[in-house]
Amino acid sequence: MTPLTTSPSVPPVSSVPSDLESAINDLRIKRRAVILAHYYQEEDIQDIADFVGDSLDLSRRAAATDADVIVFCGVRFMAEVAKILSPERMVLVPDMNAGCSLEESCPPERFRQFRAQHPHHLALTYINCSAEVKALSDIIVTSSNALKIIEQIPVSQPILFAPDQHLGRYLQKKSGRPMVLWPGTCIVHEQFSEKALLKMKHRHPKAVVSAHPECPDAILTHADHIGSTSSMLHFVRTSPHDEIIVATESHIIHQMRKIAPDKTFYEAPGPDAQCSCAQCPYMAMNSMEKLYTALATMQPQVTIASQLREAASKPLRRMLDMSPPPRTPC
Ligand code: 13P
Ligand code: SF4
Repeated sequence: MTPLTTSPSVPPVSSVPSDLESAINDLRIKRRAVILAHYYQEEDIQDIADFVGDSLDLSRRAAATDADVIVFCGVRFMAEVAKILSPERMVLVPDMNAGCSLEESCPPERFRQFRAQHPHHLALTYINCSAEVKALSDIIVTSSNALKIIEQIPVSQPILFAPDQHLGRYLQKKSGRPMVLWPGTCIVHEQFSEKALLKMKHRHPKAVVSAHPECPDAILTHADHIGSTSSMLHFVRTSPHDEIIVATESHIIHQMRKIAPDKTFYEAPGPDAQCSCAQCPYMAMNSMEKLYTALATMQPQVTIASQLREAASKPLRRMLDMSPPPRTPC
């Protein structure tokens, strides 16, 4: 398979303007660029983005945009999805090194062997993986559409799920479908501590727990709500509860405070007080300075060889075709 190629990381421009916000705004007009950001990005990036969303929303936006340039503020696999679905657009990322522990857990060659060991299984693959792994998969899912997609797969069809074992286990439980699971984990969700969570619940007896399904089962057991980042925001919007413990990457709390300024949010705890466990080190590689530099230099750009792009687009398009329509804001 033709390898994925990405342009090298670009050193910061020698002087970044003091008013980054207006410099980015000027450049985005000049470049006819759209800025897409995930909820796990730092607050300033969320605020300057044209659209903030979960992995599925962002894929849809990337596929539908008519901008000349997409600047993707998230991690690299998300920007690759934008390029695969919108190949005629230039796709820029603030930092090409922003990876993901789930992607790293699943090298394409080992995934190919895994598939070969289960030749009759359908490969249902979480979007948090490389373009090469997507190209070896049958259907891509995100945490917001996975259950709906599983319901459309005939019950006689065996399934293997990669690379997040916790999401896979949660989907098995909810769908009642046995699956062969790849043993990957997210380093952020993996670190939440059940013991510390129980202590937090004890300290805040009125608080309910909203958790992302990338959390281990020991955390999900204590959750009042489980869902994707957009589902967690929907829960905040609609729940009658005023105190919510948030078991996912903590930058999403920025959006939660906008939606419900009078509610109180607590970051789910890690094993010790010193641990800033709820922050994704890959997402944190992006910054306003790097966003400015990307727009100023038009680098780094995501490029994907056409053979790989075409192969990876098939399971992604299948995902979009099988997904429920976007939730209407309430
Ligand atoms: P969603 O935003 O699709 O729920 O996924 C979260 C995630 O893992 C991003 O890395
Ligand atoms: Fe990957 Fe976890 Fe970071 Fe999401 S939060 S990008 S799954 S490491």
